Amino acid sequence: MHIDIQLLPSPPDRRLLTDRIVVVIDILRATSVIVHAMLQGALEIIPVATVEEAFQMAKDFPRSSILFGGERESRKIPEFDLGNSPKEYVGERVKGKKLILTTTNGTKAFHLVSSGKEILVGSFFNIGAIAQRCIELGRDLLIFPSGDEGSFSLEDSICGGMLIELITKREKKQTSLTDASYGAQVLYQRFKSNLLEAFYLSHHGKELVKHGFGDDLAYCAQIDMTDIVPEFKAGVIRVNWKVESGT
Ligand code: MLT
Repeated sequence: MHIDIQLLPSPPDRRLLTDRIVVVIDILRATSVIVHAMLQGALEIIPVATVEEAFQMAKDFPRSSILFGGERESRKIPEFDLGNSPKEYVGERVKGKKLILTTTNGTKAFHLVSSGKEILVGSFFNIGAIAQRCIELGRDLLIFPSGDEGSFSLEDSICGGMLIELITKREKKQTSLTDASYGAQVLYQRFKSNLLEAFYLSHHGKELVKHGFGDDLAYCAQIDMTDIVPEFKAGVIRVNWKVESGT
């Protein structure tokens, strides 16, 4: 398995992705929210790029069956039901619901990599399960940190580095890494005993603290809360696989 990580979230060459697994990561906070919401029983999640698209998409469904979630400048969007803190996405709110989600970086990233063979939703919450699923699929892998408005994101890259470390330790077949993958792995090794230190150093971590969402940093640093692996397919995120069943 060849493992690459795209450390800047520029649009990848779509043709190169057609036979690859892609893992999208936005630790603070879009992919953490998605994994958390699916764990809490959300039916499916539709990630869209804009608020207008979210309202447009909702026209196809009864209002009672959907929830609007997401952020702009980290805050809840007016007229939306939920913001972008994972802890808001609890069973009483999301169970059985279809979520339409729009965030600054994370939801857009799914559309940049939509030609991937499998597009998986990664976070610290499900990192072990993601590693296991990648090994089982056995294809070349591109890790896609969704970044910070076009810039490098420390926390996303560290999570990518942890995924690389888990896969290379567990995979029995040969793996090859790009320079970027080695770099992300070294970054993870630097911060693995204290992920929160990195979150507080990061630009987006500081922004979240400034806007009153500091609690989300520790929450999003939790490792292996679940064994679900949500997958983005034909515009929708659903859970088709978890470690227990292996299917
Ligand atoms: C994003 O997609 O950019 C984020 O998740 C931003 C945030 O939650 O503040």
